[in-house]
Amino acid sequence: MLEVKNLKKSYGDIKALNGISFLVEEGQVFGLLGPNGAGKTTTFNLIATLLKPDTGNILWEGKSIFENKTAWRKSMGFVPQHLAVYKELTAFENIMLMASLYGLKGKEAKERCIYLLEKIGLKERMNDKVNSFSGGMVRRLNLVMGLVHNPDIILLDEPTAGIDVQTKHKIYEFIRELTSKRKTVLYTTHLLKEAEELFDTVAIIDEGEIKAIGKVEDLVSKHAPSIILELTLSDFDGKEISISDLGQVKDNVLKTEIDSREKIAPVIEELISRGIEVKSIKIKGASLETVFLNLTGKELRD
Ligand SMILES: Nc1ncnc2c1ncn2[C@@H]1O[C@H](COP(=O)(O)OP(=O)(O)OP(=O)(O)O)[C@@H](O)[C@H]1O
Ligand SMILES: [Mg+2]
Repeated sequence: MLEVKNLKKSYGDIKALNGISFLVEEGQVFGLLGPNGAGKTTTFNLIATLLKPDTGNILWEGKSIFENKTAWRKSMGFVPQHLAVYKELTAFENIMLMASLYGLKGKEAKERCIYLLEKIGLKERMNDKVNSFSGGMVRRLNLVMGLVHNPDIILLDEPTAGIDVQTKHKIYEFIRELTSKRKTVLYTTHLLKEAEELFDTVAIIDEGEIKAIGKVEDLVSKHAPSIILELTLSDFDGKEISISDLGQVKDNVLKTEIDSREKIAPVIEELISRGIEVKSIKIKGASLETVFLNLTGKELRD
């Protein structure tokens, strides 16, 4: 288990982290979801021991990672947000270079590198220079560079930036394969959809603070329980028949908040019984988007 305890970090006058704590269980995808500047990369740089916290600590299996750096760096793989590949080298040369930095040699290194390149769909292009790759291909190579030493805990900082939907799903499958082998994955994103699809546990981070942590569905039921129903009514001028008891009315649209989908039909039946026809229905479901808005007062758009 990884325990992040009350991390604070400032860069001069900029307070990047203002006391961050969370626990990550083995074999799960733990995700930080937050906007630009929230503190995601700073948190990862601390976990990767590239930075030291001003206060706070990080424990792995009960021991401080800062006091056991060498062992920790062997068990941990870090995939940075900013691409760390050499454009003048081929994909294979890049990853073999990484393997040699971790002390892998000969056949073992070669097999491991080819296995990873195949996993990420780059085996056919492995002998091409990276400067001939598309942006998404470089991003995919960047992802496996941090995995050559087969780490138990993997940090992926916005690994799918600029990657198409189909390839993203291949990456999600690959991540699932890793967690099924008891690997632990820490992941950052500012994409709601990614958090909903991939994270076992999501931590919402904003302005250097964790606003909530939990399973997506638990956060939704706790912080955004209601459903917003928008009904467009035909031939309703809002004056003769009163429906203000059913919700807000504006320009032939009735907007109302309900706590479950079962309440949709009774609202429509009530309108019909008052002689009002419903032309169209819009349901805005409870979602992580609403959770984010309720907790931070901000919209986070994909
Ligand atoms: N090296 C640095 N020097 C000064 N300020 C920094 C540095 N790195 C980060 N910051 C500041 O710390 C805050 C958190 O930045 P961080 O990179 O951790 O955010 P992030 O959540 O990763 O954002 P993004 O989604 O844009 O990657 C920001 O205000 C940023 O400007
Ligand atoms: Mg970042």
